[in-house]
Amino acid sequence: MVARIQTIAFHGADIQPVDVEVQISNGMPAFNIVGLPDKAVAESKERVRSALHALGISLPAKRLTVNLAPADVNKEGSHYDLPIALGLLAAMDVLPKDEMESYVVLGELSLDAGIRAVAGVLPAAIHAATNDNALICPYACGGEAAWAGDISILAPANLIQLINHIKGTQMLARPEAQVGHLDQKPVPDLASVKGQETAKRALEIAAAGGHNLLMIGPPGSGKSMLASCLPGILPPLSSREALEISMIHSLAGTLPEGGLMKTRPYRDPHHSASLPALIGGGNKVRPGEISLAHHGVLFLDELPEFARGTLEALRQPLETGQALIARANAHVTYPARFQLVAAMNPCRCGYLGDPAQECTKAPRCGADYQDKLSGPLLDRMDIQVDVPPVSVNELSGISSGESSAHVLARVIRARDIQTARNKQAGINAHLSAESLTEMAPLEDKAKDLLSNAVDRLHLSARAYHRLIRVARTIADLGGGAPLIAPAHMAEALSYRRLRDTR
Ligand SMILES: Nc1ncnc2c1ncn2[C@@H]1O[C@H](COP(=O)(O)OP(=O)(O)OP(=O)(O)O)[C@@H](O)[C@H]1O
Ligand SMILES: [Mg+2]
Repeated sequence: MVARIQTIAFHGADIQPVDVEVQISNGMPAFNIVGLPDKAVAESKERVRSALHALGISLPAKRLTVNLAPADVNKEGSHYDLPIALGLLAAMDVLPKDEMESYVVLGELSLDAGIRAVAGVLPAAIHAATNDNALICPYACGGEAAWAGDISILAPANLIQLINHIKGTQMLARPEAQVGHLDQKPVPDLASVKGQETAKRALEIAAAGGHNLLMIGPPGSGKSMLASCLPGILPPLSSREALEISMIHSLAGTLPEGGLMKTRPYRDPHHSASLPALIGGGNKVRPGEISLAHHGVLFLDELPEFARGTLEALRQPLETGQALIARANAHVTYPARFQLVAAMNPCRCGYLGDPAQECTKAPRCGADYQDKLSGPLLDRMDIQVDVPPVSVNELSGISSGESSAHVLARVIRARDIQTARNKQAGINAHLSAESLTEMAPLEDKAKDLLSNAVDRLHLSARAYHRLIRVARTIADLGGGAPLIAPAHMAEALSYRRLRDTR
């Protein structure tokens, strides 16, 4: 008779149920795994054999066949070890076959029968909960699985604990839901940035409405410093956002200490990042930086230094909020609704526009450098600010600016106004173009201001909608007036970098 254990395969953020079928038949002794296993899955027979040996159980000298059904789906990862081992134990009548069919199982085995942590336990637990199944996962992932709600979870540290529990000799306690703490770098306070009031205001608006931000300025003016203060003024996560983010980090295996993420992601990949690292995909499909930054911030420092193809690949996810990765045999999608914050120098030498320091190639060097960014990418940057060098007076002045805590309080107030009004869309940056007339109506004078600017500056339809969204956030920061006033629109317009520095 065939023993059957349920497990799962991951397709991007989607889950496909997989049955592990084990049959022990007479014939030449052999141990085969079929059903498109990748190298890690094929190697699992050695781990399973050693783990069972550690328990004093040796595999029968018969023909052992493990089938991973459906057979035409690639099986990747090390989480098949535990279901294969349990399937064998059920086929050998060590464990009850019928009872084992009601569990969704995932976990990696060590040679001494320990059960190691694997990626993707949270989505697996949610899948099990929706199908009324129980879950068996590694002990280290129990805190993550417990967030899936009211399902029965077994999180043993090794195979012996699991077998004892199923046989009723030693009961396992249900794991407690945990909140993970990322080892985050200490976040500098905005008060330590002297001067730069325009850039600070732009940062506040971007944090409040989730808008994309580009900072342009000479070396040492404080762009990277300002961006590093951003995590300190990002609003806390709602529980729905925390769950969505944790699902992606669970798939990537980056969930902290096996618990739910509680801080908004802030990802700052180096400019040498490859396209699969940023967008996702690669040999083993994994969420990229843009998905790990879902509901948070992706900070790209020295923007023009990124490979051109990599930057262009950001255009589609910036509009759709999804990373669609095409592979030869399947398409996978990951959510990627992130806020892009970027910093750059105006030219290669960095001092374009400063007569005392600019190089002999100006203004040509500025044009060449800025040409590395395409028009469509710049069109998606809602707020574009110049960050000029700070004067000696400002730097040596003792008075420091507002602290991050003050700014954060305003950002949270503005977010509350947005979520109460925008309902489904959430923050202003996610408002659809169709809903703008209802959610972000303009005073007549603000309308005139905007249409004049669009006519004279030949702004795109996208820029038109993005300007309204930024103006809506400015109004929300000012108390949430129902109609957008001309002052709000004028400030939003001042953040489109209308001046050409070439
Ligand atoms: N406005 C400021 N207030 C206080 N310190 C500042 C300010 N601007 C720059 N500094 C100091 O200069 C250092 C360098 O700043 P930062 O790295 O942010 O410059 P940058 O604009 O990113 O330069 P680059 O274009 O070379 O990357 C900071 O670590 C900080 O010590
Ligand atoms: Mg910098």
